Amino acid sequence: MDAFIAKLPKAELHIHIEGSLEPELMYALAARNNIRLPYASAGELRKAYAFSSLQDFLDIYYQGMSVLITEQDFYDLALAYLGRAAADNVRYAEIFFDPQGHTARGVAFETVINGLLRALADGERLFGIRAHLIMCLLRHLDEDDAERTLDLALPYKDRILGLGLDSSEVGHPPSKFKNVFARAGREGFRLVAHAGEEGPPEYVWEALDVLGVERVDHGNRALEDKELVRRLAADRMPLTVCPLSNLALCRVEALHQHPLRRMLDLGLNVTLNSDDPAYFGGYLNSNYQAVADALGLGRDEIGQIARNGFAASFRSKDGMTKRG
Ligand code: HPA
Ligand code: ZN
Repeated sequence: MDAFIAKLPKAELHIHIEGSLEPELMYALAARNNIRLPYASAGELRKAYAFSSLQDFLDIYYQGMSVLITEQDFYDLALAYLGRAAADNVRYAEIFFDPQGHTARGVAFETVINGLLRALADGERLFGIRAHLIMCLLRHLDEDDAERTLDLALPYKDRILGLGLDSSEVGHPPSKFKNVFARAGREGFRLVAHAGEEGPPEYVWEALDVLGVERVDHGNRALEDKELVRRLAADRMPLTVCPLSNLALCRVEALHQHPLRRMLDLGLNVTLNSDDPAYFGGYLNSNYQAVADALGLGRDEIGQIARNGFAASFRSKDGMTKRG
């Protein structure tokens, strides 16, 4: 099965570029930028990667990304991800980035986007992998901050495929961002949001009905609501499921209890993704292998999930497909 998975062409639709920052690169960038990290070495830092909740992880994730200062840093980060993804036979990726995690530290939006876009162009040339960007809003911040971030993105709107919503979920429902999502939709951004990772099924309903998303990131807790499951199945709404993330953040106790099996049985449109691979112990093939082993998935199911990934993407032959 491992060889079958390795050879399978795959799409990745839920990857936070800042979550692909491996400790070794983090230490190299810290040295380049004269930043002191609170752990003695990359190995020591890795030992601190024991999370019991999303917030536990986010605290370390925001601290880690603070080594990203220059355009070259963002370039190096994204090119490293693209090389790893290409080695997993990922042919196409839609990559999240968190501009507010950088602008809040005084790094210009332009610095972030220019570094990432240059890496995407080189990644295609060097590794043959195509990729686009989805800008995520941090939901623990307010909607005014989100609106200002969308303003910063508008000059680049032809080069940013979509808008997403991430960070601390509970207490920050999708409806908090109703206006900014509506405006982004009018500007042609494709819309997605994290919902039902830790938050209740109501948040998934809001992502669909208030924000008008075209994909739900995670969506695990949708299974608690039968009517919601019917809706997701009827709409063939893609869910970007991230098994090793769910395990690392204690959303499941063990992978054999992962809801993916039930999602498939319920006819949901599931895709597999790595979320924050540098923190959660594996890139895309590791996620496929982990669920194939734990849930006893066969080649037909694994192949179907990989095809779902391409079908749920916003790609088109000649570039990215914005909303008309
Ligand atoms: N959930 C919410 N926000 C995030 C995540 C996640 O898994 N990764 C990076 N930001
Ligand atoms: Zn995520």
